[in-house]
Amino acid sequence: MNSTIDKKLAELGVSEAAGLAPLFAEVRARFDADAAVATDEFAWKAFRDAWLGRKNGVLARITDNWLKPAAPELKRAVGAALNELRAHVEARIEGRRLAIESGAGSATAARDAVDLSLPGVTRPIGSRHLLRQVFQEIEDIFVSIGFSVVEGPEIETPYYNFEALNIPEHHPVRDDMDTFYLELPNGAATPLLLRTHTSPVQIRTMEKHEPPVRVIVPGKVYRRDNPDATHSFAFHQIEGLAVDTDITFCDFTGTIDYFVKQFFGASVKTRFRPSYFPFTEPSVEFDVSCPFCGGSGTAASGGTCSKCKGAGWIELFGAGMVDPAVYGFVNYDATKVSGFAFGIGIDRLAMLKYGIDDIQVFFQNDVRFLRQFP
Ligand code: PHE
Repeated sequence: MNSTIDKKLAELGVSEAAGLAPLFAEVRARFDADAAVATDEFAWKAFRDAWLGRKNGVLARITDNWLKPAAPELKRAVGAALNELRAHVEARIEGRRLAIESGAGSATAARDAVDLSLPGVTRPIGSRHLLRQVFQEIEDIFVSIGFSVVEGPEIETPYYNFEALNIPEHHPVRDDMDTFYLELPNGAATPLLLRTHTSPVQIRTMEKHEPPVRVIVPGKVYRRDNPDATHSFAFHQIEGLAVDTDITFCDFTGTIDYFVKQFFGASVKTRFRPSYFPFTEPSVEFDVSCPFCGGSGTAASGGTCSKCKGAGWIELFGAGMVDPAVYGFVNYDATKVSGFAFGIGIDRLAMLKYGIDDIQVFFQNDVRFLRQFP
């Protein structure tokens, strides 16, 4: 910058007053451009010294090189232009100082400062996953009739997952309940597995509590399964268990019927068919009359109802009266107590109720799916 001025000065020769105006305008434009760069205290000081420094500042050099040697007839004009430039430079430099001090007008300060006029950051509010919502809905229904909610471990021993549920080592139902085994160091006392159902929590609950027991157990369960539209190696169940001294089959079916009507609507009917589970006797499979075609098997459009495939009934879940053999594992007196248990598949129920045709969408967490269930 100074060399430019020196050159200009040499060119000028300060011989003509008419040459002064464009020359000072150029110096001033340069000053204005420099001023914009002085955005913090450090840059401001260097800027101030460059322009106002007593020895080598631009204004000092203009005084020495332009004003002092100016011809007598030009001195006045050079002096006036210099004073005008000085006033501008001093005012602007002071202005920058104030701006930097107050934090305004400087790019650095603006970056760090809070600008209250900016729009806020919108954080989208999420919602509970549909499966969680269905869990909650079912829990509410059972809690309202005196059940409490308990949970148990997803990593289980074969004892809780199988043996204590009356499923001895080579029992054929173990084939349907193959699962994932945890790799343990050689010589570990018991193998560990991912539970195949929430039923082990029946055992854990009865071990800890004397009858009466009325619990539901929401949770995640695992099986060795190949994923497709209706299978997943991880899925969800709610176990139910009620044991007391005088629980009858009627209490059992009445409770289930109440739950199903609460969940699907008062107009549905329930029925049960004989089934088999090693830990219930008798065992049943509960069906609900198809909530979508009113049990007629015919869709509103006239064709076959796609939900129940024309059957008018939809299979819901397995259940039964607790097998007395199970009481033997938890030191309950099988001659004094009785009860019932059920295991509801949550994914299936949610798919049914909300018309979802692929279980995998529960696990993909595609927001376009999730947003449909706010
Ligand atoms: N645990 C069984 C299953 O996962 C379901 C069930 C639970 C059946 C309780 C009867 C009683 O298939």
